[in-house]
Amino acid sequence: MIRTFRMRLTLIYTVCFVVIFFLVAFAAYTEYKQRLYETVDWSLIRLARSMTESKVDANHLERGQEIITRFGTDYHQTVRRDGTTVVGSISSVSQRWPVSMEKLQKALDGRLVYDTVNSQGEKFRVLYFPSGKDEVLRVGASLEEVKKHLESLNRLIIVFPVFLISLAFVISWLLAGIAVAPVIKLRKRAEEIIQSRTPEKIDIGSKGKEIDAIVVIFNNMLEDIQSSLEAHRRFTSDVAHEIRSPLTSLIGNTEVTLRKKRTVEEYEELLRNNLADMVRLSRITDNILFLTKVDNHILELRKQRFDLNHFLTNIVDRFRFKAERSVITMSEQYGETPIELFGDMNLLEQAFSNLLDNAIKYTPRGGMVTIGSAMDESVIRVTISDTGVGIPEGEIPHIFDRFYRGEKEQVKSVGTGLGLSITQWIINANSGKIHVKSKVGAGSDFMVIFPAAEQR
Ligand SMILES: Nc1ncnc2c1ncn2[C@@H]1O[C@H](COP(=O)(O)OP(=O)(O)O)[C@@H](O)[C@H]1O
Ligand SMILES: [Mg+2]
Repeated sequence: MIRTFRMRLTLIYTVCFVVIFFLVAFAAYTEYKQRLYETVDWSLIRLARSMTESKVDANHLERGQEIITRFGTDYHQTVRRDGTTVVGSISSVSQRWPVSMEKLQKALDGRLVYDTVNSQGEKFRVLYFPSGKDEVLRVGASLEEVKKHLESLNRLIIVFPVFLISLAFVISWLLAGIAVAPVIKLRKRAEEIIQSRTPEKIDIGSKGKEIDAIVVIFNNMLEDIQSSLEAHRRFTSDVAHEIRSPLTSLIGNTEVTLRKKRTVEEYEELLRNNLADMVRLSRITDNILFLTKVDNHILELRKQRFDLNHFLTNIVDRFRFKAERSVITMSEQYGETPIELFGDMNLLEQAFSNLLDNAIKYTPRGGMVTIGSAMDESVIRVTISDTGVGIPEGEIPHIFDRFYRGEKEQVKSVGTGLGLSITQWIINANSGKIHVKSKVGAGSDFMVIFPAAEQR
């Protein structure tokens, strides 16, 4: 198995090189062979022409006369219609050329015909040249020289690849090196960043679209990791901070009270204060536990079908006492037709309780909180509106953040700043969305929307 990418590239390149070489070599070889044959053929024609045109009748050509040309010795011979030889060159080489009656006939008809024949292990190119009424002049040349030329070329083609493969391998290795260089650079830079644990970005300059895309993905990943580390750090410190204040007040109050003997009323007061702090601590712990489960994806939804208006009425009833205590009127506005919702009832109850709790908490005495629901073709809508203090525009984008509390609320009321982030998570997990509209001094509208299609 080839382990490195560079080696794989190298081998692919090498194979390509070699294949291309053989294709080119084959083409060159065929072309060269063709040229050689053409040269031989031309010299044969020229010879035949000069023999006939100079009126040197083949019959009267001196016996034994041989013509030396570039490719060695050329031989000649005159053949009759019946295939018998009239006269030929002395070396009797021409005598051994087999006569093709078919080609002889064509030549007698006045055409130039070529033949490649084997005679005693030697190859000849023979031209049938019409030279007389019933005679054909055959001139031929040995192809031994041509064969030698082709053989040496062949040897070159066979031997060269050994050298070629090594060369191709080296060149490919260098090319592959250039190709993988950016990847190696990317890896090294990534390793450095991971080791140094600094919030850096990879910047290796533009190295082509593909590599650049990887760099972008990598940087996004780094950013994600950074921001989730950051969120984790912030969460931990926020948790510590939130737990710290009730604990400090618990310890402080208790210490102060214990400094001297107190009346029963004073002890009762201490216990009441302590209880409030402990309730707060327990609420914070519950919320943190919830969010931890969310973060670790171990919170399971148990969805079921239920009647939304009935469900909302139950929640409102549980807040009635609290509202009355703050002199706040609660109004419910549901449509005639019952609405069915499909979701996790327990979680949704927590979500709407948070919203209702906020609405009452952030509405001054004499105010009003309205809970309504409606359904149309596409959505189911639940609204929780109040005539409370409202949320400054600049704060709206943050109210769903963990531990975020409004500037004023931080001093005035108790709360953890976790309520809305939990609420939002629950709504989203039940495929809903939550929106806020608010005006300082006039009140806030929280609107929860579920797509109707999800409910069927
Ligand atoms: N109905 C509301 N009216 C005015 N402000 C609100 C309302 N609901 C939420 N807020 C603002 O959003 C902040 C975050 O809400 P939440 O997450 O429930 O935290 P908490 O209620 O513990 O402060 C609150 O501190 C408050 O400033
Ligand atoms: Mg709240």
